[in-house]
Amino acid sequence: YPLPEDPPILLPEYLYTCPEKILTQYKFPKDFLFGWATAAQQWEGAVKDGGKGPTVWDWTARFPGFIADNTPSDVGDLGYYLYKQDIARLAALGGNVYSFSMFWTRIYPFGSADSPVNQEGIDFYRNLINYCWHQGVEPVVTLFHWDTPLALQLKYGGFSNESIIDDFVNYAETVFRQYNGTVHRWVTFNEPVVFCSQGQYPINQTFSNGLNTTVYPYTCSYHVTLAHAKAVQRFRELNIQGEIAFKSDNFVGVPWREGNPNDIRAVERHGAYQIGVFAEPIYNTGDWPQILKDDLSPEILPRFTEEQKEMIKGTADFFAIDGYRVGYVTAPPAGFEACIANISDPLWPTCNQVNFFESTPYEWGLADFADPRVPWLQNTWRFLRGALKGLVERYPTKGGIYLSEFGFAEPEENEQLYKYIAITDTKRELYMMSYLGEVLKAIYEDGTDVRGTFAWSLVDKLFEWQNGFAVRFGTQYVDFNSPTLERTFKRSAIAMSKFWNAHRCDD
Ligand code: NOJ
Repeated sequence: YPLPEDPPILLPEYLYTCPEKILTQYKFPKDFLFGWATAAQQWEGAVKDGGKGPTVWDWTARFPGFIADNTPSDVGDLGYYLYKQDIARLAALGGNVYSFSMFWTRIYPFGSADSPVNQEGIDFYRNLINYCWHQGVEPVVTLFHWDTPLALQLKYGGFSNESIIDDFVNYAETVFRQYNGTVHRWVTFNEPVVFCSQGQYPINQTFSNGLNTTVYPYTCSYHVTLAHAKAVQRFRELNIQGEIAFKSDNFVGVPWREGNPNDIRAVERHGAYQIGVFAEPIYNTGDWPQILKDDLSPEILPRFTEEQKEMIKGTADFFAIDGYRVGYVTAPPAGFEACIANISDPLWPTCNQVNFFESTPYEWGLADFADPRVPWLQNTWRFLRGALKGLVERYPTKGGIYLSEFGFAEPEENEQLYKYIAITDTKRELYMMSYLGEVLKAIYEDGTDVRGTFAWSLVDKLFEWQNGFAVRFGTQYVDFNSPTLERTFKRSAIAMSKFWNAHRCDD
């Protein structure tokens, strides 16, 4: 399809003022959670310390050439040792929530239910949680952020094997019991679509989720959905306090050609494959979206039994979306059916999805200001409100919706230059201000029940999976040449703080 005419760059008009003066008529609702996010494999480092067992990422990161800069996450930001500083800095910005994940292998170094618990790991997370509260920060805990225990990968193929379900539920139960009452919001799985649709190094060199590619990806989706549902069932049986859900990624698309029936259908298919695959069973029917069942045979997409459907349905108390970006969606040129007929690998029918256009890999969202190749995305902030509203309408809960990750990355080219750019940080500031402004408008102008925003990320150079440390999402610069890994607030962090302090509700 022809690219559209370059649109004018439309910034929200409030971006032309300073953070305190943006949308002064609105305040965030009482109890709104405003803060930052990280994940264990990306932030903690100390992967061999404190009795922790290895994960698939600890292992594959050691294969030369797998991680972009060949640096495993062994040290990283050293959150394991520097957590007090990081939480205090988050609190100093005014943040009242920290979203992080636990390493399964800090709790169970070998992963399985019949293996020993690591007391040092239990103590570490207790200290982390307590320190959050000490700083007036609520901890939001994710149980699984892609760090499959290596022992379970080697033992039975990780998430390709149904044995993972009981081992995960056992780990979840241990954590629920340990921290009951000190965590109010829990997340079972982070972005399962990303996790289940990527391959296993070295077979598929894009990712390392520990999956056996002969059975991926929907066998993984099947096991993750059941593991999530069973863990939530245990959570409720044990009367654990608080709310629980999983964290979705991707976006609600916008038809490329407004009003075109094929593109409208493409948006629907995109949503079914990227969000509905987990959200539809968990929030609505207990079963896969109809589109997937129509496209994929039971050999590819295992079907749930009636009993399983009953168990899965309703196993989330809120919706969480990692809403980094939005995009236009269009049907494949030859139509879906022709596309499905032509795929080379019947196990991964990408054509069941759609073509979509998004920003450059490292510079998501408003970064496209600077990228003449994707001018139409200069206006992506405009779609955030529609996406939030669409999700709560489609997947209703009593607990509202969280923007559980959003952020802006830049590649690192030259440390000196980067340091300068990082601290002046104009593009990230624009991204953050436009997203936060749109959230306020979503709440007040659309009536969308947004309960919190967790920015990605708290500090720079989190281990960005296969991109290693070459991509930076942080709102704080970390000087990796300093022996203390010194942190410096970037302009975006200060702007976010000013914005929050001007709009928080102190009643
Ligand atoms: C979402 C993932 O949850 C997180 O691990 C990752 O770093 C960010 N996206 C940025 O790619």
